[in-house]
Amino acid sequence: MPRHDPGLSAEAVRSLLRGDFWQKILFYESVDSTNKVAASLGVNQQEACSGMVVIADAQERGRGRLGRRWISPPGVNIYMSIVLRPEIQRRDASLLTLLAAAAAACGLRRSAGVGVSIKWPNDLVASGKKMGGILTEARSDRERIGRAVIGIGINVNMECGGLPEEVRVTATSLMDETGRRHSRAAIVAAILEEFEYRYKLLLSSGRVPLLSEWRRLSSTLGKMVSVVTAVETVQGLAEDVNDEGMLVLRLSSGEKLVIGAGDLTMLR
Ligand code: BTN
Repeated sequence: MPRHDPGLSAEAVRSLLRGDFWQKILFYESVDSTNKVAASLGVNQQEACSGMVVIADAQERGRGRLGRRWISPPGVNIYMSIVLRPEIQRRDASLLTLLAAAAAACGLRRSAGVGVSIKWPNDLVASGKKMGGILTEARSDRERIGRAVIGIGINVNMECGGLPEEVRVTATSLMDETGRRHSRAAIVAAILEEFEYRYKLLLSSGRVPLLSEWRRLSSTLGKMVSVVTAVETVQGLAEDVNDEGMLVLRLSSGEKLVIGAGDLTMLR
C-alpha cells in the first residue's frame, strides 16, 4: 500500500457493505469537523438523516472530548461521523457512545487483527496507548433524543513518532502497532457493520447485551485508577459502569462514587 492511502471514498466503503441500513455515505477531502458537517446536514436533510455517515480525509478543526482538539492530518487516519435518529430515551444517549466504542474495537480487531480495548469512557486503546476516540453530540427534547451525531476518530497509518511530545507519549496508531499500512475503507466498513449489528440489538433487546460486551472489552474495570472530573481528582477501584455508562468508583474509604465524565488514568 502506498504511503498515502488513496483508497478512502464513499464508493469504496459502500462497495464493502451489504444491506440498506447506511442510507447515505458522504466523503469530503477536508472539512472543519465531520461532527459539525454531520450536524448541519442532519438539520437540513431531515429525511436523509438516519443512517447517514460523513467521512473526511482531513479535518481542519477536529474536535476531541472536553473541548480538546483532535489531530487530523490528511491521507492517513479515519474521521467519521454517524447520524442517527434513535428511538431511545434521552438518558440512554451515553449508550450510543459505548455502542460506538464496542463497534470500533471489534471492527479494528476483525479488520486489522489488533487487540483493542476500551478505556472508560470511550478511548480505544492498544498497548496502553490511545488509538482512537468517540465524541457523541446529541440533540434531545425533554424525553427523547432527536438526533445523535457519533464521531469516531482512529489513528490508522499515522506514525505517532512525528507528533508533538505531549501527544506522542500517549498516542498510537494501527501502523505503529502492526508495522504495516491498512486500508481505511475496509476498517470504516467493518466498523459500520459492527455498529449496525449492535444498534439493532440495542433496539430489539435493550441495554443488557451491550453493557455486558462493553465490560468484556474494557481495560479499565477491576483496575486502580485516577479520575480528573470537572470538580476534583479522585482515586479508587474502577468497579463497574452503571446502566447509563457512568463509572462506578470504589474509594479507599469504601464509599462508592458514580462519575459521568472525566479523564481517567490507570494507576497500576
Ligand atoms: C476523544 O477525545 O477521544 C474523541 C475524539 C473524537 C474524534 C472524532 S474524528 C471524527 C469526529 N469529528 C470530530 O471533530 N471529532 C470526532
